[in-house]
Amino acid sequence: MALIAPSLLSANFLQLETECKMLNDSQADWFHLDVMDGRFVPNISFGIPVIEHIRKATSKVCDVHLMILEPERYAEAFARAGADHLTVHIEACTHLHRNIQQIRALGMKAGVAVNPHTPVALLEDIIGDIDLVCLMSVNPGFGGQSFIPRTLEKIRALRQMIDDNGLNVQIEIDGGVTLANAKEIIDAGADVLVAGNTVFKSDNPVRMIDALKNIR
Ligand code: DX5
Ligand code: ZN
Repeated sequence: MALIAPSLLSANFLQLETECKMLNDSQADWFHLDVMDGRFVPNISFGIPVIEHIRKATSKVCDVHLMILEPERYAEAFARAGADHLTVHIEACTHLHRNIQQIRALGMKAGVAVNPHTPVALLEDIIGDIDLVCLMSVNPGFGGQSFIPRTLEKIRALRQMIDDNGLNVQIEIDGGVTLANAKEIIDAGADVLVAGNTVFKSDNPVRMIDALKNIR
């Protein structure tokens, strides 16, 4: 059974407390929190003060996805804000290994996100040092885009790399996940499904989370 991580980027920001309560009472496993800087990606979302409040509104895992340049400048602040997972982009990190060590030293699980054009083979020398790979199945920056089909092959290749090395690294798929494609994503080897629009724009988000959770 895959873990479900609704992305609050698609939530109603005026009703954040209500949205958090809804997720708390649902089968959602993680809160996926998308931080964008308007530099690494062409959009700006929310940051540390908002995450501090969300942290107080849930005991579920806060899975923070940084789409920012120089993430090492902010890792400590995100740890203080209550992030459980901190995911940085391989494309944004010159010293990825150092950044991963920093994240773990701050007590968080370390994730690496890869854009659609980035080969998963580039993870070979870091896969043993991380907890999570966030495979982008859309170009990061916006919710509500369509799943890029090539991602399925990347999931399979990554699954193989993780299993061949006997590792316990979670594969998270981020972007364009729907009820229609979730099964093939899970069958390809994904552990965690991020879902923004599919959850928050549905008539009944709790039931949608339930449906995603019970795909097998
Ligand atoms: C995109 C973000 C995603 C986004 C997913 O840059 O990283 O987490 O919120 O949204 P959907 O599920 O609507 O594609
Ligand atoms: Zn994300």
